[in-house]
Amino acid sequence: MAESIGIGVVGTGDWGANLVRNFANLPGARLVALCDSDRQRLAAAMARHPGTRGFEHVEEFAAEPGVDAVVVAASAASHYPLARVLLEAGKDVFVEKPLALEVAHAEELVRLARREGRILMVGHLLLYHPGVRYLKGMVDRGDLGELYYLYSQRVNLGKVRRDENALWSFAPHDLSVILHLLGAEPVDVAARGSAFLQGQVEDVVFVDMRFPGGRTAHVHVSWLDPHKLRKFTVVGSQKMAVFDDMEASEKIRIYDKSVERAGEFVSYGDALTVRSGDIVIPKISLQEPLRLECQHFVDCVRERKTPLTDGEDGLRVVRVLSAAQASLDAGGAPVAIAAENAGVS
Ligand SMILES: NC(=O)c1ccc[n+]([C@@H]2O[C@H](COP(=O)([O-])OP(=O)(O)OC[C@H]3O[C@@H](n4cnc5c(N)ncnc54)[C@H](O)[C@@H]3O)[C@@H](O)[C@H]2O)c1
Repeated sequence: MAESIGIGVVGTGDWGANLVRNFANLPGARLVALCDSDRQRLAAAMARHPGTRGFEHVEEFAAEPGVDAVVVAASAASHYPLARVLLEAGKDVFVEKPLALEVAHAEELVRLARREGRILMVGHLLLYHPGVRYLKGMVDRGDLGELYYLYSQRVNLGKVRRDENALWSFAPHDLSVILHLLGAEPVDVAARGSAFLQGQVEDVVFVDMRFPGGRTAHVHVSWLDPHKLRKFTVVGSQKMAVFDDMEASEKIRIYDKSVERAGEFVSYGDALTVRSGDIVIPKISLQEPLRLECQHFVDCVRERKTPLTDGEDGLRVVRVLSAAQASLDAGGAPVAIAAENAGVS
């Protein structure tokens, strides 16, 4: 196992700054280099982290021998070209979400990482959240019974992006959790949205997905909303659970509620009975998900293990995003996701 991993970060903007701060304080890692095409941002980040080397061009940064592994936190459109250059230069790479803006590009990155024997990880942050890990445990143990449907809300009045719409900016988080909880890819996706603030960039998007076995999921994302919501509601045949990331500590509530069938030989009106039991709030670890995610990347690089959110995971999410975008462009018509797409050969 390597002594400590030399980390470089490309993109030192709003989010990149959080990643830089984490990697600068992580056991088993040394923050050695930063890259940003914006000279002022680069200088500001280097001033906060004395001793790091700075680069404006990724090609020079990629040739830096002290950098073993790189975090790509530049704008979404640059994820694919940057990750490609870095994988080709022999670096392990952690790409912020979304992995790429096109399915073919995401597939190429997965193939490239495999061919070069490099670690490729995607920043599906919520899969490192102790609350989501708890939910996944409940779903897998069957604590909720048969999973019927789930929906998520990721809305606020916030950073309005020009280069990507609310679907590509926010929904990777929701989709990664939904695919993880259900352990499946959707059969088809339908999305409708509206662009109120700027030409073609949707500010609000509603996504509907059908999964094998009749399960369904719905995602509502927006940066034009009076509420700040970060919430998943999961409905099963025995119980229901809500994960609310805006809660300071009581992030999960499990509702012992269901509707049960009384049996075959009762009248129509008596056939369904509503059962409403206790509400349980389990104790969830309050560790910072971003720190857990960064530590996972370092551990995977050191131990050469496949990340929880590897390139394939990133590709599955890009596939759903692309189908949702195609549906948006077609006014909401459902777009099928072919089952044979499941992996990259
Ligand atoms: N995981 C999360 O919760 C989360 C939250 C916010 C943003 N993000 C992701 O982080 C990434 C950055 O978002 P942000 O809000 O920090 O954006 P930002 O615009 O504030 O920062 C992006 C930075 O990347 C630099 N950059 C762009 N292209 C570059 C290139 N080719 N080479 C070098 N530098 C380049 C820009 O100069 C800028 O400083 C995005 O991919 C976004 O999706 C993730």
